[in-house]
Amino acid sequence: MPIGISLEGQVGLVTGAGTPYGIGRSLVLELAKAGAKVIYACDLNTSYFETLKKEVKAIGSGSVVETELLDVSSEEATVALLKKILKTHGRFDFFFANAGFSNYRNLNDIQGEHWDRAISVMTTSCFYAVKYGGQAMAVISPEKPKSSGNIILTSSCASFLGAYADIAYTTSKKAVNAIVEAGSVQLSTSNIRVNGFAPGFTRTSLLTSSKIAEGRTEYKLKETAKEIQDNHEWFFERAGLIAKPEYYYNRLQDAEEMAYIGVFLASDLAASINGQIILADSGFTAAATKEACTGPVPPITPLKLD
Ligand SMILES: NC(=O)c1ccc[n+]([C@@H]2O[C@H](COP(=O)([O-])OP(=O)(O)OC[C@H]3O[C@@H](n4cnc5c(N)ncnc54)[C@H](O)[C@@H]3O)[C@@H](O)[C@H]2O)c1
Repeated sequence: MPIGISLEGQVGLVTGAGTPYGIGRSLVLELAKAGAKVIYACDLNTSYFETLKKEVKAIGSGSVVETELLDVSSEEATVALLKKILKTHGRFDFFFANAGFSNYRNLNDIQGEHWDRAISVMTTSCFYAVKYGGQAMAVISPEKPKSSGNIILTSSCASFLGAYADIAYTTSKKAVNAIVEAGSVQLSTSNIRVNGFAPGFTRTSLLTSSKIAEGRTEYKLKETAKEIQDNHEWFFERAGLIAKPEYYYNRLQDAEEMAYIGVFLASDLAASINGQIILADSGFTAAATKEACTGPVPPITPLKLD
């Protein structure tokens, strides 16, 4: 992590941290590098929890990872987990609401049940993060004498354009941005910041895990690392990122890049940032029309020094 970021002594949780390549997993690793005391890694997918614990131990910062089977759409389970954390550690400092899935369906195929599940997993869970996470951050103890904390929600580039995903996913993520803005105001007298980041196309397990993750029960990913990675390469190719790599906005993003932003937002370096969503897509959305209007964009001519 960049110099200056320290979350030493802090306790919190990350949802959607169960896949082998994912933003949630990377968040846990970067939080450990930033010295967080205890990180609760939560997911429906429990198959990679043990390797995550080992990786965190190898970092050597003394951070402890606790793993939890959690369906983020469950209000009851979310509140129960927060109470457990507070009873065990006496403090709660950060909440990364990051769990999600993306299964594209056109209007003919999408049903009410798909809509409901997308909204409850990706939007309602963020409401729980703000309401109950905020309440948990307000609990004080000798170790933490004042209400404080950071809530960071994972939005998506799909919250900025209609063509990235289906109608349910797009809506669920646009609503996340609203929760960031309204949540930051609602928690403004509690010394708690609420921010979000909106990833563009990022190499994770999303395209492999989504079908099964849309269910409500514990699961274990069966695909090999190669299958998970190939799935993403295929998607990048279809999105047109591979064909013209000279354009910066076509670069392939890694999960760590998203985690850097998340941990920065949770740190004191971002003390003045509140109620904001950082779009992290290497400029892909800004270039929505690609070369349609400009034609090919030439590299800039270097400044002549004589
Ligand atoms: N990868 C991208 O290109 C991209 C782009 C924009 C936004 N995002 C968002 O980033 C977040 C993280 O996704 P990722 O790309 O790291 O994919 P990922 O599949 O690696 O991680 C997502 C995790 O969320 C978990 N999850 C889904 N539903 C859940 C539930 N009800 N309860 C608990 N856990 C649940 C999944 O099991 C999975 O482990 C998601 O919110 C996703 O929408 C990803």
